Amino acid sequence: MASRLILSVLMAGVLALPGCARPAAAPTPAGAVQENPWGRNYFPNVVLQDQDGRELRFYDDVIAGKVVSINFVYTNCTDICPLDTAQLLRVQGILGDRVGRDVHMYSISLNPERDTPEQLRRFMRTYNVGPGWTFLTGNAEDVQLLQRRLGLRAVDENNLRQHDTSFIVGNEATGQWIKRSAFESPQLLADLLGRQLLNFSPDAAPGRQSYSAAGEVTDRSRGYYLYRTRCQSCHTYGEGDRLGPDLADITKSRPHAWLSRWIREPDRMLAEGDPTATALMARYRNLAMPNLGLRESEVQEVIDYLRRRDEEAAR
Ligand code: HEC
Repeated sequence: MASRLILSVLMAGVLALPGCARPAAAPTPAGAVQENPWGRNYFPNVVLQDQDGRELRFYDDVIAGKVVSINFVYTNCTDICPLDTAQLLRVQGILGDRVGRDVHMYSISLNPERDTPEQLRRFMRTYNVGPGWTFLTGNAEDVQLLQRRLGLRAVDENNLRQHDTSFIVGNEATGQWIKRSAFESPQLLADLLGRQLLNFSPDAAPGRQSYSAAGEVTDRSRGYYLYRTRCQSCHTYGEGDRLGPDLADITKSRPHAWLSRWIREPDRMLAEGDPTATALMARYRNLAMPNLGLRESEVQEVIDYLRRRDEEAAR
């Protein structure tokens, strides 16, 4: 049985799965059927439960013959992991009703004891998760095995904070499996799922209309980079609320000290009962802004970026 997932290099910049071999691009002799080594024999057919308590087998029901995105979450995570869910929400928004039809999204709980189907449903309501995206829980050992088979470092309920926040996207039928970072642009992820993986064949890729055409980067500052990769999935500027409040004029409406501390350690401010933070959290469906682990200098760069926008908007 194959012991490692081989990454097929679809495009430049694909992150290598740990310890994975890059495939030799061996030409297939005409007429030969190339066997997909990442099929039933590789992926365990363990039984999982979805948010409605239905039983799904990992190979047969979750991935067989499908284009999928898979990530691992736990619903009480307060550090960086809410960012994954927020990013995937945007991917779901871009792909629209193709999710559940052409593309299937799955989030698997790393803390199955705590994350009962009911808890998963509550989490989905907090984020307003739409149809076609299934949350799964199961036996702790099975979930660890799945992490390893998907090329991720396995964690259990004792070291959840070290969990790998990457997404695995793949097409089971063609054996293409790719690991992407949680900080990736949602447009690129949507493009990968909705176009490249779906139609994968060497001549299908170029020239087609691409989801990634949207959202070009013009500002090259570090502050914008951080905003785009760490904040934008939950926040908008001047377009109305997303998961969190719209940030237009925030550098004018909040004192600088409050803003920097909030962006750096919202979890501690909430724990200390900061009145502004507590009131905001109640207003945003009790979805807590995550502690993104930013350094002080990075926080200042994000604030500088937001201040530039506020100043430009005021002109
Ligand atoms: C997973 C979603 C998420 C991410 C990622 C996120 N936030 Fe938030 N943010 C929220 C939510 C939700 C609130 C509302 C307060 C609460 O519920 O904790 C909030 C509140 C805020 C506020 C207070 C707004 C006000 O009206 O006073 C600021 C400022 C803010 N976020 C900035 C940021 C910045 C900057 C980043 C990126 C470095 C970021 N947030 C990343 C969800 C998020």
